[in-house]
Amino acid sequence: MGSSVITTAAIAFFFCFLINIANFHVCFCNGISSSSNNNHNITCFENEREALLKFKQDLKANFTGHNLNRLSSWDIGEDCCQWAGVVCDNFTGHVREIRLQSPSYREYSAQTDAGYESYLRYKLRGKVNPSLLDLKHLQYLDLSNNDFEGTHIPSFLGSMTTLRYLNLSRTGFFGTIPPQLGNVTAMRYLDLGYNGGLLGGNLQWLSGLVSLQHLDMSFVNVSKASDCLQVMRNLPSLVELHLSGWELEYVVSPSTNKINFTSLDILDVSYAYLGSCIPGWIFSLNHLVSLDMSSCFFNCPFPSGIENMAALRALDLSWNAFNSTIPNGLYSLSHLESLNLGLSIWQGVISSAIGNLTSLVSLDLSNNQLQGSIPASLGKLCMLKTIDLSYNNFYGEVADVFKGFSRCKSHSLETFITRWNNLIGHLPYELGQLKSLAYFDLRRNSFSGPIPESIGRLSSLKMLYLSDNKFKGTLPESLGQLGKLEVLHIYDNSLKGVVSDAHFANLTRLRRLNAGGNNLTLKASENWVPPFQVEDLYLDSWQLGPQFPLWLPSQRKLTSLSIANTNISDSIPTLFWPVFSKLQYANLSRNQIHGEVPSLPSNSWVDLSSNCFNGSLPLISSNLSWLDLSNNSFSGSIYHVLCGKGEEPLLFLNLGNNLLSGKIPDCCQHWQELYVVRLENNNLVGSIPNSIGQLLNLQPLHLRRNHLSWELPPALQSCSSLFIMDLGENKFTGSIPPWMGSALLGLMVLNLHSNNFSDHLPHELCRLSALQILDVARNNLSGHVPRCFANFSAMAKINDSRQVISFPFPNEDGVFPDNTFVVTK
Ligand SMILES: *[C@@H]1O[C@H](CO)[C@@H](O)[C@H](O)[C@H]1NC(C)=O
Ligand SMILES: *[C@@H]1O[C@H](CO)[C@@H](O)[C@H](O)[C@H]1NC(C)=O
Ligand SMILES: *[C@@H]1O[C@H](CO)[C@@H](O)[C@H](O)[C@H]1NC(C)=O
Ligand SMILES: *[C@@H]1O[C@H](CO)[C@@H](O)[C@H](O)[C@H]1NC(C)=O
Ligand SMILES: *[C@@H]1O[C@H](CO)[C@@H](O)[C@H](O)[C@H]1NC(C)=O
Ligand SMILES: *[C@@H]1O[C@H](CO)[C@@H](O)[C@H](O)[C@H]1NC(C)=O
Ligand SMILES: *[C@@H]1O[C@H](CO)[C@@H](O)[C@H](O)[C@H]1NC(C)=O
Ligand SMILES: *[C@@H]1O[C@H](CO)[C@@H](O)[C@H](O)[C@H]1NC(C)=O
Ligand SMILES: *[C@@H]1O[C@H](CO)[C@@H](O)[C@H](O)[C@H]1NC(C)=O
Ligand SMILES: *[C@@H]1O[C@H](CO)[C@@H](O)[C@H](O)[C@H]1NC(C)=O
Ligand SMILES: *[C@@H]1O[C@H](CO)[C@@H](O)[C@H](O)[C@H]1NC(C)=O
Ligand SMILES: *[C@@H]1O[C@H](CO)[C@@H](O)[C@H](O)[C@H]1NC(C)=O
Repeated sequence: MGSSVITTAAIAFFFCFLINIANFHVCFCNGISSSSNNNHNITCFENEREALLKFKQDLKANFTGHNLNRLSSWDIGEDCCQWAGVVCDNFTGHVREIRLQSPSYREYSAQTDAGYESYLRYKLRGKVNPSLLDLKHLQYLDLSNNDFEGTHIPSFLGSMTTLRYLNLSRTGFFGTIPPQLGNVTAMRYLDLGYNGGLLGGNLQWLSGLVSLQHLDMSFVNVSKASDCLQVMRNLPSLVELHLSGWELEYVVSPSTNKINFTSLDILDVSYAYLGSCIPGWIFSLNHLVSLDMSSCFFNCPFPSGIENMAALRALDLSWNAFNSTIPNGLYSLSHLESLNLGLSIWQGVISSAIGNLTSLVSLDLSNNQLQGSIPASLGKLCMLKTIDLSYNNFYGEVADVFKGFSRCKSHSLETFITRWNNLIGHLPYELGQLKSLAYFDLRRNSFSGPIPESIGRLSSLKMLYLSDNKFKGTLPESLGQLGKLEVLHIYDNSLKGVVSDAHFANLTRLRRLNAGGNNLTLKASENWVPPFQVEDLYLDSWQLGPQFPLWLPSQRKLTSLSIANTNISDSIPTLFWPVFSKLQYANLSRNQIHGEVPSLPSNSWVDLSSNCFNGSLPLISSNLSWLDLSNNSFSGSIYHVLCGKGEEPLLFLNLGNNLLSGKIPDCCQHWQELYVVRLENNNLVGSIPNSIGQLLNLQPLHLRRNHLSWELPPALQSCSSLFIMDLGENKFTGSIPPWMGSALLGLMVLNLHSNNFSDHLPHELCRLSALQILDVARNNLSGHVPRCFANFSAMAKINDSRQVISFPFPNEDGVFPDNTFVVTK
């Protein structure tokens, strides 16, 4: 059916010539009959379809599932102009573009939710078939982000003289770039960047690319090919050049102070090495509109000359180590729209001349050592959308800056970040004018006063971080109007008063609420159903009790919950257990919650300590890494908790201060990751099991105040990471084993107080050079204290009164008395 269409299209092509400047999509036709101009369904040419099919055969599309089969539309019998990634000319019907780039991992995961493996599989692999040569009208070939697995760039690409756009960025090609590419005189965009294995060789061939506008050779290995910049300089149309990662110091002599780059607007030398100081020739490129010198390893003070680059609109100097003040010349670059000075050890203050940069849209001064106040003139820059001043030593007030922005005609400011400085003062009422503000981050400063009611007028606000400041007063009810708010962090302030449903009225999108460390009281109405489904909820030290919050079970997306110290004295309602079981972080400690705990979440981190839970211990499910059930009234055996399962990743176990009884089961082989074990103050009996020797990472072992007995198992010698061993107030017998002094060399605290150890103190203990506390009082020891005990170096160094050495001294007859002696150093 398509043959007549093809014929018309093919004939039409002869009357057709392409005019094309930057845009290669335009096809102008000269006096063609109106019928050919009509929109018709394009059917592709037989030979081009064949060529594409051969091309496909050599690609190892690495599919797993149906959906990832990117080239499934590439099938015989179909119109190849409809195939994924193939674009035909609307008029001639010839294949004009092949767009088979793969997304970056970030793009991929944002679109699909799938993991890294799946992303790797999405990439096309294999080799590039020369059948592409049959696509005589191909102008655009984008294979970026695929993986050609270390093969060479095929030299036949040099015969595809219609190409205007070739993108082989991040494609895993290796070896020397074929000089034939220089034959493609129509080429405007050439991207060979980010192929670590590509060798530049002699780049003389570039001089053939007389139409080239955009060249990316980032991270191509051009070892000392010193003429290549010369070649590029002579490209008459070159506007944009990316030489990221080049060792430019070898290419341009650092003493050069002028370079003539006729048409260049955009230069990217990020990650390049240009010597330790910015070379003089950079500032001679005074037509540049954009200059990226981020991550260039500069570590000498910023030179003068930047004021010469008056055309600059974008300047990135981040990730260097200038260790000097911001040069005044910078403030004269009145066309600057984007300025990034982040992470470069800038010192000193920001000049109020920053108010001259009236075109500025984005300003990043973060992660430096800047100090002084933030000039009020910043508030005059009404075009600014993004300001990041975080991680500096700025101090003083910023109220005037906000007032300045509030007077702007259009409210452009979207992002304002000053976290980790020393800023003080109140937030002005005028803040409420910043209608576009979406990300507002004042974390970790010393702002004080109330949070202004006008904050409720920031109708674009998505993220509000006010934590770790000195805000006081009540939480304004107007917060409840912020219908776009997703993140609210106000923890560690001095807010007090009552928070009600109204504070959350329209917060339907709230995902994270972190408000702990304030004296707030939640008084929600009886049947409150929050409008949000939060994932993180931290309300520590609020007044939530005495009843368990009945709205919590409604939070089905909850993964982190922290309601420690919230005065809840209730049992946990049945409805809450399904939510609890899915938590990855659960901290309900320091309340008076009672009742039994039927099961634990299967993930990560659980702290139920200092409550009134009772009954038998819940089973530990897999993937739990941190468990604290101490200071409760759990009773019964710990056998079922520790034995009978496979290996567990638990790192931290605290069951101290309960009513547990029975033996410590001999199952430590299941818990080899454990590094903290606390079982003190229970009613455990029997011996320390032999399998304890499997806990190679064990650091503190607390077994004090139980009824444990028998001799210490020699297996303990394997626990060579131990630094606290507290076995006091038990009924251990036998002699203090000499191996303690040879195997447990890291011991800092050894408490054997109030047991039935007998015999003498082994002189091997002298080798415990880190020892700070040794308590062997109230045992049945005899003989002399080894003389070397006087030499304990760690103890001698300590002047902290908590560090004690205590052991029974024998009397003049060499007999140990009953009472304890404590020696404080
Ligand atoms: C070709 O046609 C498609 C679909 O009608 C249209 O989206 C596209 O812009 C056209 N391209 C050109 C270069 O006219
Ligand atoms: C193009 O093809 C589609 C389906 O194949 C058809 O519905 C449509 O009418 C055709 N358009 C023209 C202009 O022929
Ligand atoms: C598909 O991708 C996976 C993961 O990168 C790789 O291990 C496997 O060898 C690939 N298969 C083919 C046929 O290329
Ligand atoms: C080439 O492709 C990469 C990744 O797809 C893209 O980031 C880059 O801008 C493209 N280069 C050109 C010159 O368009
Ligand atoms: C293409 O380039 C190569 C190497 O630069 C050269 O030897 C060859 O003659 C050129 N071919 C054509 C058709 O220009
Ligand atoms: C660049 O290539 C040279 C040899 O051509 C090689 O010795 C060197 O290791 C390469 N550099 C990198 C970073 O791969
Ligand atoms: C710079 O380039 C211009 C135009 O190509 C030329 O006239 C001038 O002599 C060159 N200057 C230097 C120093 O190379
Ligand atoms: C910055 O310079 C000062 C004075 O020259 C010097 O004392 C300091 O160590 C430097 N800091 C860094 C991080 O290089
Ligand atoms: C800032 O602008 C004022 C007035 O236009 C001018 O006097 C001053 O020199 C400028 N400052 C800088 C550093 O360019
Ligand atoms: C919540 O939003 C609704 C609809 O957008 C609006 O009518 C209502 O006034 C808002 N309530 C508050 C407290 O902001
Ligand atoms: C709460 O208020 C009490 C007394 O008013 C005070 O002692 C306590 O430190 C405050 N707690 C916090 C977290 O501010
Ligand atoms: C805990 O709650 C009870 C009952 O509401 C109350 O009487 C008591 O003052 C609260 N405790 C604290 C420390 O606020």
